Amino acid sequence: MKTLIKNGLVVNATGTGMADVLIDGETIAAVVAPGSTLLGFNLESNVDVVIDVTGRYVIPGGVDAHTHMEMPFGGTNASDTFETGTRAAAWGGTTSIVDFVVQYPGENPLERYNAWQAKAAGNCAIDYGFHQILSDVQDSSLTAMDELIEEGVSSFKLFMAYKGVFLSDDGQILKAMQKGASNGALMMMHAENGSVIDVLVSQAIAAGNTSPYHHGLTRPWQAEEEATHRAIMLANLTGAPLYVVHVSAKQAVDQIAMARDNGQNVFGETCPQYLYLSLEEQLGASSDEWGTFEGAKWVCSTPLRSRAEGHQHHMWQALRTNDIQMVSTDHCPFCMKGQKDMGLADFSKIPNGIGSVEHRMDLMYQGVVDGHITLPRWVELTSTTPARMFGMYGKKGVIQPGADGDVVVYDPKGHTSIGVQKTHHMNMDYSAWEGYEIDGHVDTVISRGKVVVDNNQYVGTKGDGKYFKRGLSQYLI
Ligand code: URP
Ligand code: ZN
Ligand code: ZN
Ligand code: ZN
Repeated sequence: MKTLIKNGLVVNATGTGMADVLIDGETIAAVVAPGSTLLGFNLESNVDVVIDVTGRYVIPGGVDAHTHMEMPFGGTNASDTFETGTRAAAWGGTTSIVDFVVQYPGENPLERYNAWQAKAAGNCAIDYGFHQILSDVQDSSLTAMDELIEEGVSSFKLFMAYKGVFLSDDGQILKAMQKGASNGALMMMHAENGSVIDVLVSQAIAAGNTSPYHHGLTRPWQAEEEATHRAIMLANLTGAPLYVVHVSAKQAVDQIAMARDNGQNVFGETCPQYLYLSLEEQLGASSDEWGTFEGAKWVCSTPLRSRAEGHQHHMWQALRTNDIQMVSTDHCPFCMKGQKDMGLADFSKIPNGIGSVEHRMDLMYQGVVDGHITLPRWVELTSTTPARMFGMYGKKGVIQPGADGDVVVYDPKGHTSIGVQKTHHMNMDYSAWEGYEIDGHVDTVISRGKVVVDNNQYVGTKGDGKYFKRGLSQYLI
């Protein structure tokens, strides 16, 4: 099957240019000047399908490097399965995800990896890879890191919070980082000071401050800045490359920027929720001074930050200046009914997470419209850098010959209204993005040469998505 996408403005991280894109089978075969022939070969009359995309952008499919499909967490399971979550991702122009295998204490990382493969295999709409969460750093886990790299799992997430669930102490973190420094793995960090947070949470609950708003108040920016700094110092000590996930505090951004200025291999990821949403909005316009349970919709960790303190503004700036390198969703969806409502009487029982996998490309495109970032930077933050960071670049993250035919046709004159009754394919009974209006539209999504979303219809099949065996990060020398 040969498809010619003609007359579009091709947008790569390196810039834009009018071009025709030829996909042969699963692979991009040629990117040529509009209407040109290849060695006298007329492209248009020799392909099976011609898609005229005049006036629209042709971008590499989005790469969301931080998702949690059907993850057991907070006493329940994240509500999107690999099937529903990857289909929603496709709807929104994302053609690859990197999800997290979880090792809980006492578990064998390789067994968990196999269990996650069994959950995903044959169910995904788009390609998927895995990182591994390590919650039990002991010798066998360190050995498993080498074996997992052979399987294409080249990045490992550690936690400085969530005692008894995920938390590693500094000594364990040091050991895992020493391993990463020697085998080339990228070490990922959930950087929040869990001991401090646990005390603040207990004190809040004891004082009767139980509403969701207190989730944010008990996870202050100081706890994020301190942990980010500590992670950077441990990485510095060991020589491991460090990738800080879901950065929300401007002070944490500055720690990352400072380490980078000192020449350290430190990278930062943020998420749409830390650019658009705030603690003030989580509190809402309620007459209750601590807000209503509505705020549970936006309970995630790190938490939403205060707009008055300027975190969101600082984060947009950091994306522009490359102090922060990429945007993932940390897609970890839960329904209000039966899941988030477990914390009605106690915010600490609300499962932490927000679902956004469907909306990342649109929300970040709005950043272009609003003048925060350029068009190539949009592609860089959402596709090219995630692909390079996690060893997928060349196949993913770029429109060029030899790349996978993962192509999105994006309409800058189109419009997308977000809400549960509108654009909503995630398995959630609410949208964290209800009422958001986007000045653009995902028109066509092609995954390895196959059209999976077209003209507001899903036309793919469960199982189209295949496991992507990742290499080492292409950001490291
Ligand atoms: O609230 C969040 N972020 N839930 C998912 C787990 C994590 O820490 O990434
Ligand atoms: Zn985390
Ligand atoms: Zn996460
Ligand atoms: Zn459209």
